[in-house]
Amino acid sequence: MSQPAPSPEPYTGTPADLRRILSDAGYMTEAVPKLARLAPMGSNVDPEAIRAALAEPTPPNLLARLFYAAQPLPRAQAESLLAPLGCEPLIAAGLLRAEGDTIRSVGAVVPIANRLCLRDFESWATGMPMQEDYVLGVGLATTMLAGFTVRRAGERVLDIGTGQGFQAMCAAEHAAEVIGTDINRHALDFAAVSLRLNAIDNVRLRHGSFFEPVAEERGTFDLLVSNPPFVIAPPHDLAAIGGRWEGDRFVQDLISTAPEFLRDGGYATILCNWHHPSPDEPFARPLSWINGRGVDAWIVRLKTDSPETYARQWLRETAAGNGQAAMTAAGNSLEHWLDYYKRLNIGAISLGVVYLRRRAAGGPNWSRTDSLSMDNYTGHASSQAQSLFDAETTLRSLPTEEAVLDLRLELSPAAELAQRLALDQGAWKPRQSLLRETAGFEFAVGLDGLTTQILAALRPDAPAREHILALAKSMRADPQTAIRQTAPFLARMLKLSHVRVAGR
Ligand SMILES: C[S@@+](CC[C@H](N)C(=O)[O-])C[C@H]1O[C@@H](n2cnc3c(N)ncnc32)[C@H](O)[C@@H]1O
Repeated sequence: MSQPAPSPEPYTGTPADLRRILSDAGYMTEAVPKLARLAPMGSNVDPEAIRAALAEPTPPNLLARLFYAAQPLPRAQAESLLAPLGCEPLIAAGLLRAEGDTIRSVGAVVPIANRLCLRDFESWATGMPMQEDYVLGVGLATTMLAGFTVRRAGERVLDIGTGQGFQAMCAAEHAAEVIGTDINRHALDFAAVSLRLNAIDNVRLRHGSFFEPVAEERGTFDLLVSNPPFVIAPPHDLAAIGGRWEGDRFVQDLISTAPEFLRDGGYATILCNWHHPSPDEPFARPLSWINGRGVDAWIVRLKTDSPETYARQWLRETAAGNGQAAMTAAGNSLEHWLDYYKRLNIGAISLGVVYLRRRAAGGPNWSRTDSLSMDNYTGHASSQAQSLFDAETTLRSLPTEEAVLDLRLELSPAAELAQRLALDQGAWKPRQSLLRETAGFEFAVGLDGLTTQILAALRPDAPAREHILALAKSMRADPQTAIRQTAPFLARMLKLSHVRVAGR
């Protein structure tokens, strides 16, 4: 006798099912790219063009009306589009609101890097200017910082100014616990919804300014990450990008206080603007903020603008995003902004990333500054930053430069050698060899035949000295000369992160 077929399990979906539902309906592949084309970030958008593009009632268009263009849908239609999950779990999660027979989304749902991120609708969608508590989406600064951040497994992480929660969500993937703080309750509400939509349960959100929400937790964080409100502008109301802090005061207080909250060995990764009196001394102010605070520091300057270029850029961006309503206190005139800079003796404004690592023992703290370009950045700088901190600390602890050869060294796993060959008497011979990193900053350097062989000879099984002596012997070179000449080369390779101390 045949057994009756088992009855299917009842569907018990969660808000995290929304991603698959949106994906199956073509929201990610059709609607979002179309809208990104019609409404690129920081540009003026024609709402009529968007309405026209979403006119045909296909599933991706209807979902885009709901989750991108701030339009309500009839409840029955929303239920069917969001089946089998339906509206109720998303109302309970704080994403949808029922208004009579219609359903609305509280904000825009943007898919980014395998996650759904909730942000406030853009002004073109609502017809409203940004309010003081406007929640920005994942922008260029957000993704830049996510790529720069030092990441280690099992950490306790603090994300100051979590906003829509993107940094906290990225950290949640490798951390044991993440605390995301913000002064903006509306942002924390949105971040909480995003956590539910992505089934993330190791992030705690806390309300408060600056370090207030973690005041009792000094010295407990393995990582502090922050994309602070760093825009340097005359005082205004848009908390997300600066608000009422004078000059770069927020960034200064954040960087100088961060060390107190790190465990020994804990890192901070902070993306920010800072100002300086003239273009020729970009690092003096940020260095003064961390001096004597028990941290090693790597400050990377990515660009420096004149006050006028900087002001023009922000006036343009806030006008395009309809942010001027919230920034009216800052005034819309270039002259007003330039007067403000003059009063604060601001001659140039830099953008950069500040890495800190708390280190209590093992010699005096060090700081290093680099001026690098995003053109030479390949993403995912975590491993490089950690190698670089280890290298700087180790090199400074050596009694002599030659002692670098007593270390077990290995080539960075992200190192890549590109060779250009030229035809020479019927055979292809290397003309130029370029070593670069394929993760983090490239730090490209030209190598010759000998230095490529030195790098290839390094192995973590024994101190570098043994491998260099073996190489010298095989080349019939004088061992003492080989040792003397190789030491500065290896120190340089360590500093550029092409070589690292093995086993760290
Ligand atoms: C540029 S947004 C960064 C948002 C998000 N972390 C990211 O990477 O995109 C800066 C955030 O800092 C928050 N903020 C502003 N002033 C603050 C303060 N005094 N204390 C804590 N957070 C603050 C803003 O509300 C905003 O969410």
